[in-house]
Amino acid sequence: MIKEQIRDQIIKELIDDNIIDMFQNNIRPINQLMSYYRCAIMEVETKFKVLDEQFSLQYDRNPIETIKSRLKSPEGIAKKLKRKDFPFSIKSIEENINDIAGVRVICSFPEDIYLLAECLLQQDDVKLIEVKDYIKNPKPNGYRSLHLIIEIPIFLANEKKNMKVEVQLRTIAMDFWASLEHKLSYKKDIPEEKTDILSKELFECAEISADLDSRMEKIRNSILKNNW
Ligand code: GTP
Ligand code: MG
Repeated sequence: MIKEQIRDQIIKELIDDNIIDMFQNNIRPINQLMSYYRCAIMEVETKFKVLDEQFSLQYDRNPIETIKSRLKSPEGIAKKLKRKDFPFSIKSIEENINDIAGVRVICSFPEDIYLLAECLLQQDDVKLIEVKDYIKNPKPNGYRSLHLIIEIPIFLANEKKNMKVEVQLRTIAMDFWASLEHKLSYKKDIPEEKTDILSKELFECAEISADLDSRMEKIRNSILKNNW
C-alpha cells in the first residue's frame, strides 16, 4: 500500500519533458485519437443497450442495471506509458494501452454477466483480445469482475478504424465493494497497521457479498421457474 503510494509519487515526478513534448507536439492527432475512443465507447454502450432492450422484450427482464463509461485522461495515459516503460508515441498509445476507452456494465446477478459477455462476443464485429475472469478467480484482495479487452470497428466518413475497449462486467454488490476498496487504496494518510485491518475486513466483505449475490440469484431463479 505505502509502496504503491511512493511508486505513484515517483511516477508523477518522472512525467518528464519527453512526455509533455510528445503530447504538446501531437495535440491534433491526440485529440483525434481520443475522439475515436469516444466513438468506440458509444458503439459498445449501444451494443449493451440493444441487448438489454432485447432481453426486456423477449424475457421480460433487464439484465443491465447501469452502464458507466470513462475515457482515460491524457495524464493517465502518460503515467501508464511511463509506468510500463512503453515508448511515447501515438502508435505506442494505440498498441499498448488497452483501457483508454472503458465501459463498465453493472448487472443485478452474476449469471447475467456471463450471458451479456457471451452475447457481445458472438457478434461478428467484436474481436476478443483478452479475458480476465476475476469472478471465477477473485484477486487476493477479494476483487471480483469480468474484464474483457475487445476490439470493435468504428465507421468514419472515409475509413474504418478498429479500436480497443476495456469492458468490465460486475454485479451491483461487486461494484459497491470495488468503489469502497478503491477509496482505501487511494487514501494516503491511513497508518499501515490500520490499512491491514481494513484490508482484512474488506476481504471478508467481498466473500459475504459474493455469497449474497449467489443466494439472491438462487431466489431469482426459483421465482422465474415458479419453483417454490
Ligand atoms: P492496470 O495496468 O491497472 O490497467 O492493470 P491490469 O492491466 O493488470 O488490468 P486489470 O484487468 O487487472 O485491472 C484493470 C482495472 O480493473 C483497473 O483499472 C480497475 O478499474 C479495476 N481493478 C482491478 N483490480 C482492482 C482492485 O483490486 N480493486 C479495485 N477497486 N479495482 C480494480
Ligand atoms: Mg487500468
